[in-house]
Amino acid sequence: MQLIDGKAVAEQVKQEIAAQVAAMVERGEKRPHLAAILVGHDGGSETYVAAKVKACEVCGFKSTLIRYESDITEDTLLAKVAELNNDPDVDGFIVQLPLPKHINEQHVIEAIDYRKDVDGFHPINVGRMSIGLPCFISATPNGIMELLKRYNIETRGKKAVVLGRSNIVGKPMASLLMQKSNPGDCTVTVCHSHTANIKEECLQADIIVAALGQPGFVKADMVKEGAVIIDVGTTRVPDATKKSGFRLSGDVQFDEVAPKCSFITPVPGGVGPMTICSLMKNTLLAGQKAIYK
Ligand code: GUN
Repeated sequence: MQLIDGKAVAEQVKQEIAAQVAAMVERGEKRPHLAAILVGHDGGSETYVAAKVKACEVCGFKSTLIRYESDITEDTLLAKVAELNNDPDVDGFIVQLPLPKHINEQHVIEAIDYRKDVDGFHPINVGRMSIGLPCFISATPNGIMELLKRYNIETRGKKAVVLGRSNIVGKPMASLLMQKSNPGDCTVTVCHSHTANIKEECLQADIIVAALGQPGFVKADMVKEGAVIIDVGTTRVPDATKKSGFRLSGDVQFDEVAPKCSFITPVPGGVGPMTICSLMKNTLLAGQKAIYK
């Protein structure tokens, strides 16, 4: 069994980005600039956004954090989105999700100029990704593809099972794994809350991507010997031994599953660091106007 060290790969990718940024600045080009909008004080969102700002520093990007209290109106938020769309200094920006219930997330996502949508959530980017055109690809599935590539994991002709059908992870993951590319060329099955025979589907899988948000869902008796296991789960579970009072739990019962695998990602330190790193990659591409002019 080989552990997939997402933290180490993410550090390496960020150094590669930093080198490219240094070269851009050397040539007199503009430093890429990522803006992030954070609404409210959700603990997970605070942590993720702080990590994104820190990653910008490591990569040599300019970053701007815009904060609002959770009672902000949808109109005020949409006005800020329009302002960032029109700000030539901002290459890309994100609105951290989830948003408070009174704000329609889809309205906000669709208000973002797709050319600055470094999260890859706008329907234009989602649509372009699904037919294999250049676009901003959603960070978590893109980070997973990078891990498969850097660990030389064979995907061609393999059976992949994606657990979860979210717009952010499950759906784009399935799309990327089935694409005519390397990594890619998988036969993909997507399982969700209404799938009748999840255990049987998983037992046939060469690659399982678990993105359900259910701690410990994937158990040893669901995994074929030699399978590749990618754990996207990051549920906060109470843990009195931690200073924060919680620990992150993956969707995979790591202790019992790991001995059966060829490769497995740990939680934390697997997929999580790669997600932020993919956002940095998209910001670099936005700064270089490499996808859209
Ligand atoms: N919430 C959870 N993951 C993400 C992400 O990748 N981007 C944004 N904007 N919000 C999120």
